[in-house]
Amino acid sequence: MILHEVKRGDLLLTNDPEKVDIDALCDLVAKQYWGPNRLRRTTRRAFENSYTFVLLQGEKMVGCVRVVTDFVTAAYIEDVIVDDSLRGRGIGQWMMREMMTSPDMAEQHRWLLMTADAQTFYEKLGFSAPGHPEWVMEKVIPYPTE
Ligand SMILES: CC(C)(COP(=O)(O)OP(=O)(O)OC[C@H]1O[C@@H](n2cnc3c(N)ncnc32)[C@H](O)[C@@H]1OP(=O)(O)O)[C@@H](O)C(=O)NCCC(=O)NCCS
Repeated sequence: MILHEVKRGDLLLTNDPEKVDIDALCDLVAKQYWGPNRLRRTTRRAFENSYTFVLLQGEKMVGCVRVVTDFVTAAYIEDVIVDDSLRGRGIGQWMMREMMTSPDMAEQHRWLLMTADAQTFYEKLGFSAPGHPEWVMEKVIPYPTE
């Protein structure tokens, strides 16, 4: 992994694993609309096994983007969060662009994600509905509940 850290005002965006506080990330995820669907241990394991950028304001964790990836063939984006106190100021777009253009991702082939309502947010980053939806398949097993 290649360290990538960028500043914007008092915010620091970093992929430094030393700065990834998984407990704080679990707290952040718990506040989102999908939070109640996932046990804390599920979120914890997901972050332990993903490529993550965190957004820090001083010591406070105020955002994140988590990526499931092999760094070359495919990257599946999850848990894109900017704390509600900072929304609507271009920080989410900046965080996503920095993650997608970070040195680790220089040869990434395919980016994937699912979103219920943020299509226009991702369109600005070059995403679109799949060109061949009939080629996309999924099998979903409910998360554990205890
Ligand atoms: C989505 C999120 C990360 C965006 O962060 P942000 O810093 O507010 O985003 P930006 O300011 O860079 O960009 C916002 C733009 O995206 C657009 N947008 C589209 N759908 C959106 C949505 N569901 N939520 C937020 N913005 C959305 C806004 O209209 C805005 O467009 P504009 O710049 O033309 O006004 C943030 O709102 C968030 O954490 N939301 C809760 C968690 C979430 O829904 N994550 C995405 C799951 S797929």
